[in-house]
Amino acid sequence: MNTIEKTVEYVKNELYNDASGHDWWHIFRVWNNAKLIASNYNEVDHTVIELAALLHDIADWKDHDGDFDIGPATARKWLEKFDEISNDQVDKVCHIIKNVSFKGANAEQVELQIEGHIVQDADRLDAIGALGISRTFAFGGNRGHMIYDPNIPHIDHKDEASYVHNQKKTTTINHFYEKLLLLKDRFNTEHGKRIAEERHQYMESFLQQFYGEWNGKR
Ligand code: ADP
Ligand code: NI
Repeated sequence: MNTIEKTVEYVKNELYNDASGHDWWHIFRVWNNAKLIASNYNEVDHTVIELAALLHDIADWKDHDGDFDIGPATARKWLEKFDEISNDQVDKVCHIIKNVSFKGANAEQVELQIEGHIVQDADRLDAIGALGISRTFAFGGNRGHMIYDPNIPHIDHKDEASYVHNQKKTTTINHFYEKLLLLKDRFNTEHGKRIAEERHQYMESFLQQFYGEWNGKR
């Protein structure tokens, strides 16, 4: 088995039963979408893209007191075993994993290179549309969040610290306003932007239906 095949087995093993929307099938979709987007580009490191897609959720800051280094550190420990992957590639993969995440409406984002842009778009496509809605409710249930409370307004997070700090207090519907609906304008690639358009509309219709039913009007 080569490094990518071994990494597939490793990630499957670690994440298969996750019930927060970060399960193996999320990784599988991100990996596939990343490969699809990458096929439009000649001058990119496909190995870096595939490894970053496969390892991007291997350890989550939300499970480790907001520690943004736990993911890249876990990935590095895994990748350093393989002679096939250069130090430079390991650094690139870890840099993507550290910076791929959305961290609040007004948080400063580190600018990524093309490999990172591709993985980020692939991950963000899975955060919106029908899959995004499903994952968001799975996450909320997994963490014991309420579905919706009209008395809890959503927050326009001013920075990363505010986003991290308020994770546990939000409702699942608020997460749409705190993240999901903001993603449409933050895609990097033409492919990502195009697919995001339809998935975004689908979430808008879902919310209209949700409030309609909530208010007994539908
Ligand atoms: P990223 O892919 O940007 O790193 P996360 O791992 O934080 O994002 O989130 C991935 C998905 O998990 C979100 O798109 C959403 O579906 C779900 N999620 C994360 N945080 C929340 C939350 N506070 N409430 C509901 N769902 C959440
Ligand atoms: Ni992800």
